[in-house]
Amino acid sequence: MVTTLITGSSRGIGFGLVTEALKAGHKVFAVARNTASLKKLKDEFPDRLLPIELDISQPGGVEKLAGEIAKHGTLDILVNNAGMMTQGESAKDLADSFWVNATVPFLLTKALLPVLKKSSSPRVAQISTMMSSIADNTSGGYYAYRSSKSALNMLTKSLTIDHPTVSFALIHPGWVKTDMGGENAPTEIADSVRGIFKVISAMSLKTSGQFVNFKGDALPW
Ligand SMILES: NC(=O)c1ccc[n+]([C@@H]2O[C@H](COP(=O)([O-])OP(=O)(O)OC[C@H]3O[C@@H](n4cnc5c(N)ncnc54)[C@H](OP(=O)(O)O)[C@@H]3O)[C@@H](O)[C@H]2O)c1
Repeated sequence: MVTTLITGSSRGIGFGLVTEALKAGHKVFAVARNTASLKKLKDEFPDRLLPIELDISQPGGVEKLAGEIAKHGTLDILVNNAGMMTQGESAKDLADSFWVNATVPFLLTKALLPVLKKSSSPRVAQISTMMSSIADNTSGGYYAYRSSKSALNMLTKSLTIDHPTVSFALIHPGWVKTDMGGENAPTEIADSVRGIFKVISAMSLKTSGQFVNFKGDALPW
């Protein structure tokens, strides 16, 4: 059975990905600061859904989570989905954004590499954004969000080179109708997660290091 860990599982794209992975028969570690919203899904999939209530952005959070997963043995897919967006431009806005959007996913990936490498097809999907693309930035603004996600892209590119037995992908989910994406977003959560899941399912060592959208189209760096 494929084992998948998804961060930011409480709502939005993360919650959608948990649902999609369960429907596909995966065993799912759903990590969230508050797992209350997962209760109904847990009733539906009592054996395969393992909610983990933990704040990975707090000191020690990553280590605690890696310890929990190590007890289970193997992990096939890690989805670093938890993320924050602010239009603020203060030092704190930048520090918080880099921490949540780049540093924590990087540290969590590194901490889970030993269990991932026990899988026959280890995959790490980083939920990035088109807004991280330097080549595509024609509208400015969003300094903290854009640059922290660009940092995630660069960290992941280096991981791709240094860990050639693991497949990595940076995936833009589309502009999605979530708390972050807002009401005017053209993409429904269900369509985004179906696409992301298809991209993740097709990931291989040959595709490692790809930066794509939820339809699988390559994006400019
Ligand atoms: N929506 C879009 O249009 C869009 C476009 C491009 C990329 N993305 C990316 O897609 C991912 C998911 O976004 P979404 O639209 O689903 O956003 P969302 O609805 O705002 O959900 C964000 C998720 O991340 C978690 N999270 C936020 N800050 C956290 C922190 N400090 N520590 C731990 N968890 C934290 C939230 O947990 P709580 O419930 O505990 O707050 C929640 O589960 C993000 O990485 C985002 O950058 C979204």
